[in-house]
Amino acid sequence: MKRFTKMLVAAGACLAVSTAANAQVKIPADIEALLTKNTCLACHKADQKLVGPGYKEVMAKKKYKPEQIVELIYNPQPSNWPGYPPMAALPNVPKDEALKIAKWIVSLGKK
Ligand code: HEC
Repeated sequence: MKRFTKMLVAAGACLAVSTAANAQVKIPADIEALLTKNTCLACHKADQKLVGPGYKEVMAKKKYKPEQIVELIYNPQPSNWPGYPPMAALPNVPKDEALKIAKWIVSLGKK
């Protein structure tokens, strides 16, 4: 049991190091809270593909305005992303939160 715990700790430390090394985009705390609350982080990372495309990739490929991203949260267009499963519409995300998230995603395209 003791050995097992040690192994877990080692694995955890490894994971922490590798995510830190990959984290090129630091998500601001207030945005991260909104992304977590609205489940976005279950499928998206800032700069890496997960279930859906990374937000940086979204902005590299499409030059969206914040309002367009808000619209896509409520009404996804899976045909924009061939090879990905369709994103489910998220009608319960409050508009002001969607707009804050959208503005942050757009800011990633300017870096
Ligand atoms: C269950 C998984 C899942 C969740 C939760 C999810 N997404 Fe997605 N998202 C995807 C997938 C898969 C795609 C690519 C296919 C598509 O657009 O339907 C995508 C695409 C996108 C795109 C690109 C749209 C386009 O047409 O170019 C944006 C922007 C986006 N998501 C933002 C968000 C935001 C913001 C949230 C949280 C409010 C969120 N997503 C939650 C899976 C998800």
